[in-house]
Amino acid sequence: MVDIREVKALEVLDSRGKPTIKAYMKLVGDNFLYSVCVPSGASTGINEAMEIRDGDQKRFGGNGCLKVVESINTFFKEKLENKDFLNQSEFDNYLLELDGTKNKTKFGGNCLLALSLVFAKAHAGNLKIPLFEYFSLLANTVPKLPTLTINLFSGGKHAGGQAPIQDILLVPQVDSIQAALEMTYNIYYKAASNLKESHNMRLLRADEGGLSPDCNIADELFDHAKQAILDCGYVLGQDIFLAVDVAASHFHENGQYNYHGKNISSIDLIEKLAQWQKKYSIISIEDGLEEEDWDHWPELVKRLNGCCEIMGDDLLCTNPTLIKKAQASLAATALLLKVNQVGTLSEALESFKLAKNKDWRVTVSARSGETEDSWLADLAYGLGADYIKIGSITQSERLSKYNRLLEIEAGIY
Ligand code: PGA
Ligand code: ZN
Repeated sequence: MVDIREVKALEVLDSRGKPTIKAYMKLVGDNFLYSVCVPSGASTGINEAMEIRDGDQKRFGGNGCLKVVESINTFFKEKLENKDFLNQSEFDNYLLELDGTKNKTKFGGNCLLALSLVFAKAHAGNLKIPLFEYFSLLANTVPKLPTLTINLFSGGKHAGGQAPIQDILLVPQVDSIQAALEMTYNIYYKAASNLKESHNMRLLRADEGGLSPDCNIADELFDHAKQAILDCGYVLGQDIFLAVDVAASHFHENGQYNYHGKNISSIDLIEKLAQWQKKYSIISIEDGLEEEDWDHWPELVKRLNGCCEIMGDDLLCTNPTLIKKAQASLAATALLLKVNQVGTLSEALESFKLAKNKDWRVTVSARSGETEDSWLADLAYGLGADYIKIGSITQSERLSKYNRLLEIEAGIY
């Protein structure tokens, strides 16, 4: 039994300086104050759990989270304090019942996630086990360190929109987190110095720390990635692979893709992706098509299957119903799992299990708006997820997760 003594919340800031929620919990018979911060996306899917913001333009451009803080500090305080729960699913179900809406429109996905995760931390603490062990017990999985997929270049909504695609990621083929980070460091700074020479400018970083040079042609960015890998003495397609988050929903208009100022069809885009896959040793394509282009996702899978994962982010929104739909129509082969897209930990674990039941690869992913909290690393390790996508190797909100993986790898927990 988990006996809740105290619940509260505070509005804190995320890596974009935007407000987010930090929730706190104390249990009866345990003096420790458990806390958790929730992340927030910018390149969001239309089926994500609703994120509630104040809308008061006088504070943080309408992005304040005081309404959610108020819900936790009054309504949920009354509902949760001095109540005990058997386990995570009983707690999450209670939250879902209180909200009672399909997309968490009453209290907000940001509110429910803060409570769901702080309960997980408190329960793990009460059981005196590391957070990753708690997640692995919940999901009945064997903990395993994930392969890193690390942003090298960013465009789209995470940068100035200069390149249409959102991320080009490095996927080092090494057997430790430490070695993968070292390899990434070499390539990241080589790419930065190459671009400084060719573009004569100080490199700017995007929201997730990826380099965001003034190249508006996606092919050029791929070429720069390939060159930096080569310059460092690594073999692309052997020592390292690339992955891409196309985030195609964000350059889709009126049934066409606005690619470099030209309208192209789904079939044209699929061809483009197939060419990149071959030329640049891409092992995973995320959101290669728009989130409602369901008719063409199976085409994409057919055209590329066997060569590369076809991963749904906006398409699936970590939502069990959408995952089932994609599995029935063979529209994807892999899941990007973002807990806040669906709202509670239990729902995200259901999505994880659905994906795994069909042998899909799962990437546990951060959001572009992150905090210093490192729970995501424990989640990826605890679930034994195939991959983790945190962002680049700069900025503390990303490094808190990489550094937590380093700790876990070293057995320090
Ligand atoms: P978001 O982007 O967190 O801004 O939604 C991440 C992604 O698209 O993978
Ligand atoms: Zn994405």
